[in-house]
Formats: sequence, C-alpha cells, structure tokens
Amino acid sequence: MNMQARPPMPEMGELNVSNHLLGDPAGLAAAWERDGYWFFRDVLDKAVIADIRRVYIDYLVDMGVADPADPQHRYNGADYSALPINSNLTRLNEQKVHRLLHGAPTINSFFQTLFGCDPFWVPFTVHRTNPPVQDVTRPRFDFIHADGSYNDGLEFLICWVPIGEIDADVGGLAVVEGLHRQPSLHRRDGTRILPIEAADVPAEAWRRTDYRPGDVLLMDLHTPHSGLSNISRDQFRLSMDTRVMPSNGRLPLAGTILSVDAGMVAVADAAGRHVLHIDENSFVRGHRGDRLVPADIPARYNPGDAVIVAHAEGRVVNMRPQH
Ligand SMILES: [Fe+2]
Repeated sequence: MNMQARPPMPEMGELNVSNHLLGDPAGLAAAWERDGYWFFRDVLDKAVIADIRRVYIDYLVDMGVADPADPQHRYNGADYSALPINSNLTRLNEQKVHRLLHGAPTINSFFQTLFGCDPFWVPFTVHRTNPPVQDVTRPRFDFIHADGSYNDGLEFLICWVPIGEIDADVGGLAVVEGLHRQPSLHRRDGTRILPIEAADVPAEAWRRTDYRPGDVLLMDLHTPHSGLSNISRDQFRLSMDTRVMPSNGRLPLAGTILSVDAGMVAVADAAGRHVLHIDENSFVRGHRGDRLVPADIPARYNPGDAVIVAHAEGRVVNMRPQH
C-alpha cells in the first residue's frame, strides 16, 4: 500500500456470491431482483483468463511500463502519460482481444449453464490496464454511473472480468447493491448526462470484494457502479469490461453502416440489410456517451462504421459504435 494519506472511500460490504444458484433459474432471478448483479467466484476457465493476461502484459511491456524480465509484471515506474486509461480505443481493442473470451468454448459453456441458452456477446469491450494513480489523496471513485443511462433500449448485462488479482488497493469495481429498480441517480444538463454524485449514493449500499482470475461480475444496466482508483504501489489493475445477453432475448443488430443521415441508417449484418428510421426519441450515442441531436449524426457516423443498434418497429432505439 502507498504510505501517503489514503483517500476517502466508504466502508464497503462484500458482494453476495451466487455460485449456489447456478441451475436454479428462480433463485437466480430473485437474487438479480434483490441485488442488481450476480457475482460468481472461480467459474471462468483460468487458462483463458491467463491467455488474455499475457496479451495485456505484452501490451504493457511494449508501452514501456512493465519489464519483460519481471515475473510479476509490476509497474516499473516509467512515465505512463502515453498509456490510454479507461479508453475503448487501445491497441487491445484493435487486436480484438475480446475474442479470446467471447470465442472460448469453456467460457460459453458457463454462460449456457447460467442462461439456459447460448450467450449473445454484444461487441463492445473496454480493456483496463490501469497503473497506480499518481495522486493517492484524490477520491477513489473513477466515475459513478449506471450504463443504462447511456444505452437506453440495449438490454445487455454488463460482464466485468478481472484479468488478475484485484484487492482493495488495486481497486477494481464497486457496485451499489439493490438500487437498479430505483429512479436514475444521474442528473442531466440538457442532453448531457452528468456523473452520479457520491453524496447521492447511500454509503451503506456499496459492495466490492477481492477479485481473482476466474471470477465474473454481471450487472444490471441500471446498477450504479464505479471503478476504484488503483492506489497500490506497483500493481496494474487488469480487467475486461464487456457485454452479454441470453440469445433468446430481444437482440440488437451488430453490423456495419451502409449509409446514414439525420433521419435514417442502413446497416448490414449476417442476416442482410436493415433500414431503420432515426427520430427525436432515438438515442444515438456520441463520443462521450452523450446523446447526439439528429443533425449531428452524419458528422459522427459514416458508412463502414461497425455499430450496435437496438431497434423496434423499424426505428432506432439506440445506436452506438462497436469496439
Ligand atoms: Fe459502466
């Protein structure tokens, strides 16, 4: 642990573990209703997680912030200003590292057991390789939010996977238990969605745990959560943040834009060509999770862009980039 003054953070209870509910759909549903998440301990194939970890470490070595000779792959103290933090535009995204998880038969078989059908992976993933923060006196919440506020109409589960050991100092994910059926805690400023204020969250509802490879945390779209800053001395916080849903649900399109303007988009996927209207109720996501006004859509989206589109009755409910 870093010996400077520790930043303020509420005391956090432990996540509920749902391993005993696998194979019990009613019990799983009740836990989801109560908590807004499922946490499963040691259920994902650790060989797959180790493969992903190796790719992350190679990336950190190439970025100059870890040394290849260090068997523990610690942060080496080098300047990391060129290392993207909490970005979805990293080399790991370009390399489509998510396929190591989404394509692994053993991982899919866990989700088949959980859902009672095949999983449908929604192609947007954030790879986090966060080094220790420089200012450990800052509040530890990176960004308190509920993804649903930015993804109206997309019905996925958030799937957060630790790619290494993540203890209280390394940070990882903290969730607010049991608030997913409550009105959103996000305040708005016109079309801008503001982060949730820590003061608006009941402090006793925060949960976390010490995460290990093999664990997985699945969250409701409306469950408020935040990354916790990494205040360790020399550990990276390695985690993959992706999206999944049961394949028997209302699936979004995952395809490529053929043409787009302020009022319509044509998207091609494996099933063919889909033409969808865009209207004032469509949530078309901009660069920072904000909602674009229709006139700004052609400047942001172009033919060839890979997108995810939730749709109903011939119109776009939500459109966002794949990554
Ligand atoms: Fe999130």
